[in-house]
Amino acid sequence: MLPTRKLLKFGTCAILLSTCIVSYLSFRIFTFQLFTGTALKPCKLEKLDPWDKSLTPYLVSPPPLQCAAKKQLMYVDMNGRLNFNKTSLKYYALDETKLICVTRALNRVLGDSEVTFEARVEVTLPVFVKSHVFRVTCTDESKNDIYDYLHFNPMWNSDAKPKDTVEDESSDNLSIIVFGIDSVSRSHALRNLPKSYQFLRKEFRAYDFEGYSKVGENTWPNLVPLLTGKNHRDFPLVLHLRKHADSMPLLWKESAIDHIASYFAEDRPDISTFNYIKSGFKFQPTDFYFRPYTLGMHTFEAKIMEPLGKPTWDCYGVSNYFDIQIEYLKGFLTYYAGKRKMAYFWNNQVCHEDFTTLSRGDESFLEFLKWMKDTGQTKNAIFITLSDHGYRIGGASLTHVGRAENNKPWLMLHVPEHILQKYPWLHETLVENSKKLVTHYDTYQTMLDILNNNAFVKQPHVEVQTNLVRRNIFFPIPDLRTCADAGIEEKYCTCEDKQNVSTTTDLAKSLAEFIVSEINEILSKHRNSCEILTLKDITEVSVTYSNSDQENLPEDEHNSFLYSLFKTPVQDFTGRYFILFHTLPGNGYFEGTVDYSKYLYRGSNQHIKLIGDPSRLDRYGNQSACMTDSFLRSYCYCKDFKPSR
Ligand SMILES: *[C@@H]1O[C@H](CO)[C@@H](O)[C@H](O)[C@H]1NC(C)=O
Ligand SMILES: *[C@@H]1O[C@H](CO)[C@@H](O)[C@H](O)[C@H]1NC(C)=O
Ligand SMILES: *[C@@H]1O[C@H](CO)[C@@H](O)[C@H](O)[C@H]1NC(C)=O
Ligand SMILES: *[C@@H]1O[C@H](CO)[C@@H](O)[C@H](O)[C@H]1NC(C)=O
Repeated sequence: MLPTRKLLKFGTCAILLSTCIVSYLSFRIFTFQLFTGTALKPCKLEKLDPWDKSLTPYLVSPPPLQCAAKKQLMYVDMNGRLNFNKTSLKYYALDETKLICVTRALNRVLGDSEVTFEARVEVTLPVFVKSHVFRVTCTDESKNDIYDYLHFNPMWNSDAKPKDTVEDESSDNLSIIVFGIDSVSRSHALRNLPKSYQFLRKEFRAYDFEGYSKVGENTWPNLVPLLTGKNHRDFPLVLHLRKHADSMPLLWKESAIDHIASYFAEDRPDISTFNYIKSGFKFQPTDFYFRPYTLGMHTFEAKIMEPLGKPTWDCYGVSNYFDIQIEYLKGFLTYYAGKRKMAYFWNNQVCHEDFTTLSRGDESFLEFLKWMKDTGQTKNAIFITLSDHGYRIGGASLTHVGRAENNKPWLMLHVPEHILQKYPWLHETLVENSKKLVTHYDTYQTMLDILNNNAFVKQPHVEVQTNLVRRNIFFPIPDLRTCADAGIEEKYCTCEDKQNVSTTTDLAKSLAEFIVSEINEILSKHRNSCEILTLKDITEVSVTYSNSDQENLPEDEHNSFLYSLFKTPVQDFTGRYFILFHTLPGNGYFEGTVDYSKYLYRGSNQHIKLIGDPSRLDRYGNQSACMTDSFLRSYCYCKDFKPSR
């Protein structure tokens, strides 16, 4: 009796629980598919000025990168040979014939979190080390450890597809090279990667997609669509550590990929896309996979003559870590030269932690672009540089423009010249599309079609839908595309144009009063000549609301009841306001622009910020005859002015 009762009880519990889970899941899916309001209106893209005045306080240079001040003793050349750097040997007065060096191969343990080292093998340099990743340790004649470092040899990879099983790259069988950097908006790239941007435009004739938009909040909800074409909510079990990422239909597993060499590299194992509060990959996901190296780096302290300290996320020993990650990509592209490739490079560190650091990456990226150009890597490859979203937390991210930038990640696309010639309509289409609403779902579709060799096959035009349509960006994107059609969740749909709002709210009044006080401030040195102005009335208020990034909000907002229930904060009216109003005396008519933020900008104690100078809309005639300066004339009402009549 008892066991049955227990079983029954357990059964009821299980049924209840699973009902709960099922209804929760369907609720989540339902909330996603239900597009309403702005998401269903044709999207008017907001023009963003990367140098908007309100950003000035945040545009400061980062401190220079300072890696260990030693000279690198070794390098692996493009033929995979480990060499001494003769210049450095001389510098340290080392006699290479007296040095004893051993290598230890690094192996990935099943799962994504551990690596082991094999036994030591004594080597004489130069030497081709038959391990993809290996540690080199050297001692001098007095048995002092003088060198300890982790290297990789891209020219040896026993986990990768043999070259002869990979098909050749050609105009029909194109490769894809994706170079991604986390948290880079288009505006942020223009500001901080000026040399690379110019090189992409001039030398690669890359298309710059001004309307590229994020579809979800942070990295995961944006990269899942980019790599699977699906919503991140379709993978709850991966997110909740119940399944490895191996179960996901990632781009490099699709279609003919067993004839295509694949590459995936992220720099930071701690916050990487598939490992941050997730289980990562059980099996190595791609032919070239950077993670084992990034884990190995942290298993011992690098040494050149003396210990170099723990690796940081900016430096490994003497090197800029970004350069090392790029070197690994160059290795892959070289190893499979002329072969068909799908490379997905993703840098977490360069821009993620600080609003100012991206500019440090410009030189490294430019060097890479030049190398790409010089070695003809894109002869038969579509080359894509992109990001997941803009800068999200800190920096300018709470300003109106910063918030708008957050929604507009970087996307540039290079198409080989012979492909543009082969499809005469393509150039014009790409120019047009670079002004349209485009998202990660479209980038996915385009890449998938490239891998399936049907990217340029004319397709029937699909009208704007009320649900997601993934659109190959080599074909016209509809002018009237909506956020719903593009797969952008309502919260991140920033297409709404300026809209008129009430002139009688307390907020409108305090914004107008703020502008009047700013005008009085401009006149403060001329108190003897000019009257103090007061607000008479407000005739028009329009606003472009800022969307909000939940994690950017203050703690108390996170803890609010509504937020915890729906993850939706109360509408906070944050945005850029344009206000038309009259002042007394004199009935002057002005327009002023202010950014209003419910939450304080970092380093600011004002909720309201004047943007540019207020402008005078009516004629002031002799009201300001007492002022000679034309700028002040538009504001001053002279004390000695006598109105006629
Ligand atoms: C050798 O080291 C010097 C600095 O000591 C560096 O300038 C040079 O680029 C290195 N050469 C190679 C091939 O790595
Ligand atoms: C492209 O690859 C296919 C096999 O997937 C092959 O049949 C075809 O000949 C290749 N085209 C070129 C131009 O190499
Ligand atoms: C806002 O109101 C002004 C004045 O009433 C009008 O001219 C303008 O067209 C309106 N703008 C919008 C977007 O409705
Ligand atoms: C301004 O003052 C001058 C001289 O006092 C006068 O001639 C002129 O008509 C006035 N202009 C206006 C617009 O009132």
